[in-house]
Amino acid sequence: MVNRNYNRPVLIKGARIVDPGRGIDAVGDVLTQEGRIASAGPVLAPSDVPDGTHSIPANGLVAAPGFIDLHCHLREPGYEYKETIATGTAAAARGGFTTLCCMPNTDPAIDNEAVVELVRRRSDADAVVRVFPIGAVTKGRKGKELAEMEELASAGVVAYSDDGDPVYDPNIMRLSLTYTLDLGMPVINHCQENGLCCGGVMAEGWIATRLGLPGIPASAEEAMVSRDLSLAEMTGGWLHLAHLSTAGSVDLVRQARQRGVSVTCEVCPQHLYLTDEWALGYQGDLRCTAGPRNYDTSTKVYPPLRSRKDVEALIEGLAEGVIDCIATDHAPHEVASKQVTYQDASFGISVLETALGSLMSLVHDGRISLSTLVDRLTVGPSRVLGPSFEKYATLETGTPADLVLFDPNAEWTVDTRRFASKGRNTPLEGVELKGRVVTTMVDGRLVYQDYGD
Ligand code: NCD
Repeated sequence: MVNRNYNRPVLIKGARIVDPGRGIDAVGDVLTQEGRIASAGPVLAPSDVPDGTHSIPANGLVAAPGFIDLHCHLREPGYEYKETIATGTAAAARGGFTTLCCMPNTDPAIDNEAVVELVRRRSDADAVVRVFPIGAVTKGRKGKELAEMEELASAGVVAYSDDGDPVYDPNIMRLSLTYTLDLGMPVINHCQENGLCCGGVMAEGWIATRLGLPGIPASAEEAMVSRDLSLAEMTGGWLHLAHLSTAGSVDLVRQARQRGVSVTCEVCPQHLYLTDEWALGYQGDLRCTAGPRNYDTSTKVYPPLRSRKDVEALIEGLAEGVIDCIATDHAPHEVASKQVTYQDASFGISVLETALGSLMSLVHDGRISLSTLVDRLTVGPSRVLGPSFEKYATLETGTPADLVLFDPNAEWTVDTRRFASKGRNTPLEGVELKGRVVTTMVDGRLVYQDYGD
């Protein structure tokens, strides 16, 4: 249905153009030509539109730079039964994401040039959006010995992380942060003090107690956030904190920023939208056709869904800019790894296809402006990735035509049978969301078009 080679000029007519990098939020036209943005601004006169241009009427729709996801799991190589580069990038296109950075918890791990090359080749062959690999901090992600960070940089990684596991050894973390000074790329840490997790499977609190499940305290995250901030302060290196989930973490980052520590951080849609109550079957006032589900293993994720107070603090941190960006942590899993007891289930949620719909609730509820939301999905992650990514986060004339067109008010019901992702593991199955991607373009090619089917 989607023609990946479609590359004639396209005119998006009468959209609300939200381009936070240029401070634009106004109705106008976007014209793409030869894979680039020819113009994105005031309505064009017919004489400015080349012959043969394909026109997309976009009244009531939002046109924005394509979303950039700093943190997702594409599972290739090694876990193709969970996701592939083909299915993961198709899911991204459906979600309005045009650039993905994929985590190295693959098998083998992305910890040397050969595996980076493999991911690049598979992406060249199968991906419908841009894919940039993140290299491991330690060899095999085993936490014992630093990976060849320089080799990985030359091979083209955009950051380093052992995500899925923390960089547990403080000396290795210190060393890797020191290397970021020369390499100019951040170390992304998954903050989890294992000694405090004690086999926990959800947030510590009354809900975990009521369900009889072992809890993960907020301090499991905050203790390592504190350690890492102190190491970043000492080394001057560049720390990026993955998937913050607690009010305390937001405070720690806010204070560190005031001291001038070189830290950036992200929050995930699930931690802005869902609470630990979902493990009890509670769905707030959301409309859901699937009904409440106790012990729903699709709510099991690392870091765990937390309390309403944490969600509020994360939303405030995002609005304020203490949190630089939204990243999905799209973690697809096969059915078998979730159709088990809560304790045995894998951690992770499939997020790419529901991200926009869930995040738009923050805009509809007046918690953040549409422009701030788009900023945190485009300009924010591009800043973490560095100046060469700025061109993907704007609709400025001459930049690659990577963009998303979405209907902010379209209501739709999540039906995982329609997912492009192999991962159907989302607690949002059957939930009605408001905000739907209509068209996604990469390099001026339509990589996704919603035909309402
Ligand atoms: C991630 C995965 O499945 O790779 N799961 C998750 O719950 N976020 C790894 C991880 O960060 O734990």
